[in-house]
Amino acid sequence: MRLKPLVEEVGDSLGLPREGLIDFVVDIDDTLRIDADREHLFRILNNLARNAVQAIEGQGGAKGEIRISARREGRRVLVEVRDSGPGVPPKARENLFRAFQGSARKGGVGLGLTIAAELVAAHGGQLQIVDSVRGAAFLIDLPDRQVR
Ligand SMILES: Nc1ncnc2c1ncn2[C@@H]1O[C@H](COP(=O)(O)OP(=O)(O)OP(=O)(O)O)[C@@H](O)[C@H]1O
Ligand SMILES: [Mg+2]
Repeated sequence: MRLKPLVEEVGDSLGLPREGLIDFVVDIDDTLRIDADREHLFRILNNLARNAVQAIEGQGGAKGEIRISARREGRRVLVEVRDSGPGVPPKARENLFRAFQGSARKGGVGLGLTIAAELVAAHGGQLQIVDSVRGAAFLIDLPDRQVR
């Protein structure tokens, strides 16, 4: 399926812009296709984007940006979800993909990233945090299904 419309739907689901506070930028070629279950991929991207919204809003009024970009590399697609928020705190990093343990946010359950990582893994892919100088960035690496 084409990735861009799905990502735009994720953006719509966030209820942005919140008083012009958060820009949602989709930096994806119209023709880029990805081989994944639509609902699962929606869930993955929604969990990551919601974390970004919460991180930016937690900064108390500072303007922010969420940028989703993607590119194909051979038989896999790399999707990056990046934000200009405060970055992932060290306390959260230690247990990032562990259920109920990674939350460093008031009211956070600590399931969002665990679920996202498991859904990516179920597709044969990987979800990683990317080192970034500013903000937070996560990379989804999704291979195409093997055709026999
Ligand atoms: N984009 C981000 N910027 C800053 N911190 C982040 C970001 N994404 C995740 N985190 C940190 O990682 C923690 C774990 O995220 P995760 O989505 O697994 O759980 P949660 O958001 O706390 O709760 P849930 O998603 O289950 O409601 C968050 O509490 C937050 O501290
Ligand atoms: Mg979350």
